[in-house]
This record gives sequence, C-alpha cells and structure tokens, in this order.
Amino acid sequence: MLVSAKEMLTKAKEGHYAVGQFNINNLEWTKAILQTAQEMNSPVILGVSEGAGKYMCGYKTIVGMVNGMIEGLGITVPVALHLDHGSYEGALKCIEAGFSSVMFDGSHYPIEENIEKTKELVRITGELGISLEAEVGAIGGEEDGVVGSGECADPAECKMIADLGVTMLAAGIGNIHGKYPANWPGLSFETLDAIQQKTGSMPLVLHGGTGIPADMIKKAIDLGVSKINVNTECQLAFAAATRQYVEEGKDLQGKGFDPRKLLAPGVEAIKATVREKIELFGSANKA
Ligand code: 13P
Repeated sequence: MLVSAKEMLTKAKEGHYAVGQFNINNLEWTKAILQTAQEMNSPVILGVSEGAGKYMCGYKTIVGMVNGMIEGLGITVPVALHLDHGSYEGALKCIEAGFSSVMFDGSHYPIEENIEKTKELVRITGELGISLEAEVGAIGGEEDGVVGSGECADPAECKMIADLGVTMLAAGIGNIHGKYPANWPGLSFETLDAIQQKTGSMPLVLHGGTGIPADMIKKAIDLGVSKINVNTECQLAFAAATRQYVEEGKDLQGKGFDPRKLLAPGVEAIKATVREKIELFGSANKA
C-alpha cells in the first residue's frame, strides 16, 4: 500500500538523515528502485514529473503499475508515490488517480498567488491524508521543460509557505537540476541555515541531487534537509551501462536482443546508484 511521505520525513528530520526521491520513467526504473529500497530496508519516494506521467500513459497507469509491483514483489518498506514539480491542475489529477503525495511548484508565481494555490491544496490533501510539497525560489536548470535559474529562496517567504501547513518544503539554495557546471559555486549553506531557523521542524527538500559532492549532502542533512531528489544520475548510469552492452556487441550474441537481457545492465546500474544514495543519505534500515 502507498503511504503519505509525512511520517517517513518527520522521522528523517528527527533522526538526522534523508529519504531519497528517485524519479521513475518506466517499469524497469520502478522495479529497480523498489527492489533496492526493500533490500536496504529503506523508506522510498518514487517521483513522477508531469512529462514522465504523460510518457507512462497517465497517472492512473502509474498508480496501477506501482501498486501491482508492491504486491507482486512483496515490498514492505514504506513507499510514497509523489508528483514532482506539479502544476495546480496536475496535482489535482494525481490526487484523483491515487498518488499518496504531490508537489505543487508555485515558485514561478508571485508569492501571493503561490500562497493562495498552496493553501487550497493544503486543504484538499489534508482531508485525504496525502502529503504536500511546496516550493519557494526556483531550482535552477531544466527539467521536463520547467526552467529555473538556481536562485536562493527568501527565508521569510519560506516561513510564510511553511506556516500554511504543507508537509515539506523545497527551497532554492543554489541547487540545479541536471549536471552541475564546472564553475558551480556550491550550495548556499547560509541560506539553508536561515531557512531552517525560520521553519523549525519542517522537513526541507533538496532538489537536484545529481552530482552534489557527499560532504555537501551531509552538511545539508545536518542543516535540516530530510528529502533529496535524484533523477539525472540514474539516467546517466542506465545510459552508460546500456551503451557498453551494445558497444560490446552483446545484443548480437545469442538472444542478447531480448529486452529482458538488453535492459538488464541498465537496471543493475540504476540499482547501484540508488544503493549508493541510500547509504549516503543514511536511510538504510529506517523503514
Ligand atoms: P537531478 O535530475 O539533478 O537529480 O534532480 C532531480 C530533481 O530534483 C527532481 O525534482
């Protein structure tokens, strides 16, 4: 059964570790992430962007696939199915389809409009026991056509949104989606510290988890980050392993063209990436 992310993130904030949100793209991705979380006895959040939602034939298809897999694979660790960077309308669609968690990304609206829309979703998700993530200060880089410039959020605005009763808050602290450029100045711990001081026990979310050095991840967790999103790193690992398989001509040997063989190295690469992140985030054995 899918669960809200509230309990797992409250425990993470109290226990000074973070739960990974790993974005899914298809059956192989979902299976690899669920199996790894189970093997490591870790809670996990499956992230779905609106673009990935369309790619996987809509939110209902995803809910059916994930619920079926939880049963079929005997998954017992807590699993939240979460809309990533959702629009207001997208969040409503996911709630209707059976997601257990949604993000409303109102960071591109003026703060008043972000507050109004977030407030309405706090009411709806609250009645249904679904967790809600809000965002202040756009995350840099590009993800599924949503482009942000990597700004640092205003801690006072973070407090305004946190006080509305959201479950977790994503705040820009210089992080960006995708690969970090060589001249990236790093996370702004000064901003993170100020946000955490204003928002208290609110679990904070770090987007753009790909390529952030381990010491920065650990420091961010110390300063109140309880959920870390990873997407690109699994894609890079999958692509590299698949490329190697084909370049070695393995698809031309025997039944190497069978998708169950062709995609296997990529799946193993996703598993290795997720395993490494769960270890780094400290959520192993916290299910
Ligand atoms: P990366 O693609 O940089 O890992 O970011 C993932 C993310 O923040 C999803 O919201």
